[in-house]
Amino acid sequence: MNSEKVQIFDTTLRDGEQVPGCKLDTEQKVLIAGRLDELGVDVIEAGFPISSPGDFRSVQEIGKVVKNATVCGLTRAVKKDIEVAAEALKSAKHPRIHTGIGTSESHIKYKFNATKEEIIERAVAAVTYAKSFVEDVEFYAEDAGRTDNEFLARVCEAVIKAGATVLNIPDTTGYCLPEEYGNKMKYLKENVTGIHKAILSCHCHNDLGMATANSIAGVMNGARQIECTINGIGERAGNTSLEEVVMIMNQHPYLNLQTDINTKLLYDTSQLVSESMGMPVQPNKAIVGSNAFAHSSGIHQDGVIKNRETYEIIDPEAVGVNTSSIILTARSGRAALAYRAKLVGYELTKLQLDAVYQKFLQVADKKKEVNNEDIHMIVEQSNIQVQA
Ligand code: KIV
Ligand code: ZN
Repeated sequence: MNSEKVQIFDTTLRDGEQVPGCKLDTEQKVLIAGRLDELGVDVIEAGFPISSPGDFRSVQEIGKVVKNATVCGLTRAVKKDIEVAAEALKSAKHPRIHTGIGTSESHIKYKFNATKEEIIERAVAAVTYAKSFVEDVEFYAEDAGRTDNEFLARVCEAVIKAGATVLNIPDTTGYCLPEEYGNKMKYLKENVTGIHKAILSCHCHNDLGMATANSIAGVMNGARQIECTINGIGERAGNTSLEEVVMIMNQHPYLNLQTDINTKLLYDTSQLVSESMGMPVQPNKAIVGSNAFAHSSGIHQDGVIKNRETYEIIDPEAVGVNTSSIILTARSGRAALAYRAKLVGYELTKLQLDAVYQKFLQVADKKKEVNNEDIHMIVEQSNIQVQA
């Protein structure tokens, strides 16, 4: 069966850049946008043009260099925002305006002091106005995660009629459970008249650590776009991580979902974003963390040395990491020690390995990690004759 395409909408440069203390300048943003284009993302959300002259300029410059992806600018459901975004996007080959408004009870009551009818009117007016500038208009229903499904469906129906071609259903506060978020997509698929004219999009935040699971639940229930960031960066606990959702779809072919991402560029792109933002990737981060393919316990090391797939579900090369690593610690066994000793030039017999291993344990107990220099020292001090 042919698999269906899920569009990857990267918002590293907009939602991702909202990380406190991680401001990027235009030059850095243009460099990252170029890399995202090479990576194969479908949409690059380049910024929020009305928010500052710098953001306006970044969106303009990104529009000039991006060759393949759609370049998108965010707006509120406000005329001036839409005009400014349209101006900034003039340089883009494929421009998209991303406009929207809050739809949950608390947004309607406290943020807008409005009625539900007024929210629908504003949403329709924003989409209609955006449509007068560009063909490609995406609508977001902010805090859709906490919006009741019936009202959300009415909003979606109204903005589709006004010309929205993508409907973003953000779990702005990272509140939903995967089942709940998936059911929301299913409900919209089944209850919104005209839904076939639009793509449903997942936009999940990670406040409860469920952004990736929620996005996957979304696409399993009919959404065909995921909004995400490199390394999962973003406000508070961050956004859905691009590398995670892409690799989940890759590793589970029965989902019948695929993306156009060149996964071999994932690790380098992760490093570029991390270095540009001065934001280290947590070592245990799935897919791109420094420990993602590092094995340190003896049982696992023995298994991986015999056959990588025993403890690895992803070939590190598939995401641009050269090789898995065997970290030597006091938890390592003889197999790992023999493996590393061979790499640094010592072919040890079983008896020699027994001798070296005792010395190795003494050293390892005093260190976090035993390195190659330590191995040379351990072998030399073990009083054995080896071919080096
Ligand atoms: O999380 C959110 O609701 C957003 C919208 C502005 C799209 O980022
Ligand atoms: Zn967001």
